[in-house]
Amino acid sequence: MTSYSIHPVAALRRRQLLQGGAAFAVAGFMAPAAAAVGSLAAASDGLTTKLLPGPTQVRMIGDKAPATAVWAYSGVTPGPVLRLRQGTPFHATVENGLAETTTVHWHGIRLPNAMDGVPGLTQAPIAPGGRFDYAFTPPDAGTFWYHSHDDGLVQMGRGLVGALIVEEADPPMVDRELLWTVQDWRLDENAQIVPGFNNRMEIAMAGRVGNTVTINGRLPETLSVHAGERIRLRLLNAAIARIMALRFEGHRPVIVALDGQPCDPHTPPNGRILLGPAMRADVMLDMQGEPGRSYAVVDDFYGGLAYTLVRIAYDKAAPLRPHPLAAPLRLPGNPVPRPDLTAAVTQEIRLQGGMMSGMGGGMRGMMGGAAWSINGQSMTGDGSAGMPPLFRIDRGRSCILDFRNETAWWHPIHLHGHSFSVLDRDGMAVPHDESGDTVLVPPGERVRVAFVADNPGDWMLHCHVMEHQVGGLMGTIRVA
Ligand code: C2O
Ligand code: CU
Ligand code: CU
Repeated sequence: MTSYSIHPVAALRRRQLLQGGAAFAVAGFMAPAAAAVGSLAAASDGLTTKLLPGPTQVRMIGDKAPATAVWAYSGVTPGPVLRLRQGTPFHATVENGLAETTTVHWHGIRLPNAMDGVPGLTQAPIAPGGRFDYAFTPPDAGTFWYHSHDDGLVQMGRGLVGALIVEEADPPMVDRELLWTVQDWRLDENAQIVPGFNNRMEIAMAGRVGNTVTINGRLPETLSVHAGERIRLRLLNAAIARIMALRFEGHRPVIVALDGQPCDPHTPPNGRILLGPAMRADVMLDMQGEPGRSYAVVDDFYGGLAYTLVRIAYDKAAPLRPHPLAAPLRLPGNPVPRPDLTAAVTQEIRLQGGMMSGMGGGMRGMMGGAAWSINGQSMTGDGSAGMPPLFRIDRGRSCILDFRNETAWWHPIHLHGHSFSVLDRDGMAVPHDESGDTVLVPPGERVRVAFVADNPGDWMLHCHVMEHQVGGLMGTIRVA
């Protein structure tokens, strides 16, 4: 990995160079509430919005650095934060200002198939200058997101992603809510996105792991906090390939939801919050650090490439309260049906291909030169309409997906239209209830998830490392 992924510190150094070392404040860094200015507010009434994908310029590494040419929703990347209400109909009109076709996928939302935004499968792609009206009623509260599903590797890699929050009717008591939409970019010396997506080497390896990690579209400096406050932090890994493992030095983050679905409040193993591309975690942070001190938030997923994502700085004021807030951490549940494991059908999903596999999966059984396959079948690009589904399942039936990673690489595997619970990893039951729409499957591991196939239609099942998806780690399942 070291040969082609550049340490993010390179970006930090470059930033200092570009800025002459001047400090700057990060505007888009605060909570949605605090950041609900300008374009954000317009998109946030929970009922209707307009999204305008198109090319634009943004300043992501500081006000004195050159602007970066990106593709963005309504002029900002990440796109406007959409705040929806659970059980309330939502409408979005998408007007395509790009020079190529696009679609919008509402990742993690259990919605009708025709609204899922997969070109050639659930809708015709939106032509340049064309429009499409999406409408759905989100059944679940939680942290979700939206992104292009057409030419996804390039369109997402150039910025077409955004957070979608479905508010609980009765949210937990906190002092502040923050949202970190994390993106990873490979920028050159002029702060421009390095071209050459679809590089064969990266497709068959870890994907494009970049050199600049942004939070809410900016290279983060410092987050200021007050001692004693409780923060609900919504984390979204919107990177195309970078996996993150976040540690909050001196703090004890408690995970209360994964992929928008509430779970038993728990501290993650070794205090590391592991998020593959597309994955979300809601964490509760009781700010129990010392007034005046600062603490690092470190991402150390790639062993030798650990870096400080951001620093948390306490102001000097006395703690807001002597003890952490006593309010419960648990989030209200969502109406996701529980799978019946005794009656479930099991489908084996073998993940195959990639470079340097020492585990026997290798490049064996590849079709048409694709780098990856699922059960010997490679759906590439944005999907191929003619390809038969991996399997068909009766509507309402419980289903176990038995993922076997026969490759040497990590895969965040995502299922559309449903939410599953993770049962076990290599035969060991998961220690905390863990549900979601994307599960990170380590090299060589076996992971089983279960869900009720209650949503009719053809649904995508794919790796969310975008290079793996376009390279063949994709298929569909049919619920009928
Ligand atoms: Cu978030 Cu098929 O994607
Ligand atoms: Cu999705
Ligand atoms: Cu993958």
